[in-house]
Amino acid sequence: MPVESLLSPIYSFLKSETPQTWIDEAKKPENLPVILIDHLICELKAAQSAMFLIRKYAVDKESSNTLLEWLKPFEALIYKREGDWRTLPSKNKLSKAVIPKSDSKYGQDLIDKMVVLIKEELHHFYQVLEIMDEYNIEYKSITPCRYAKGMLRNVKTFEPDAMIDKLIVGAYIEARSCERFAKLAPHVDKRLGDFYISLLRSEARHYQDYLTLAQEISDFDISERVKFFGEIEADLIKSFDEDFKFHSGVPTKN
Ligand SMILES: [Fe+2]
Ligand SMILES: [Fe+2]
Repeated sequence: MPVESLLSPIYSFLKSETPQTWIDEAKKPENLPVILIDHLICELKAAQSAMFLIRKYAVDKESSNTLLEWLKPFEALIYKREGDWRTLPSKNKLSKAVIPKSDSKYGQDLIDKMVVLIKEELHHFYQVLEIMDEYNIEYKSITPCRYAKGMLRNVKTFEPDAMIDKLIVGAYIEARSCERFAKLAPHVDKRLGDFYISLLRSEARHYQDYLTLAQEISDFDISERVKFFGEIEADLIKSFDEDFKFHSGVPTKN
């Protein structure tokens, strides 16, 4: 599918386009390390939050542990600086099948979509490490930006609404990532540009998966909640943000 057709639903879903000032900042060569390191962390966070959703809502204790084992080598690399990143592709798999809880009416669908998504995010995580190696960028820990937190603090506190909200937030994060990859691709070299376009293809699918799941799980029409989070998201993108990151707001005051 051509990139334009992947992007048009994304543009209508997002309530604002990435401002030019963010693109101008992001294309500065001195900002490549922060963009790539933050991107790396976003891929791990994407895998972790998808895993959290299946662990909380869809599986029993044993399957939950199987899922946790899968993430361990990826988390150890970041949080403990342990292991060799080159060995990660061989570790990107589940050691056992994950079985839905018998009382979870949407369990199987949630597991099926999220397991594929986690696998892809962990593969992206590895691909970013590969790129960082090629560009001689060393990993260092950075502070998380306000973006995801800014949306998650508005998630309802009771179920199943909390879960529906988290899925909608997931859809926005994926859609924005997709839009930013498209915005960045023309301003970087071919290797990085091709990588961003390849990612855009899977993030476009991820955003759809999150939205579809949210609507399937909900007994009510989710469009009001989608609109609600769309406005919060757009505000985080359009307002001044002194902490420049992959999902940050406007980097200059005027
Ligand atoms: Fe990803
Ligand atoms: Fe994704």
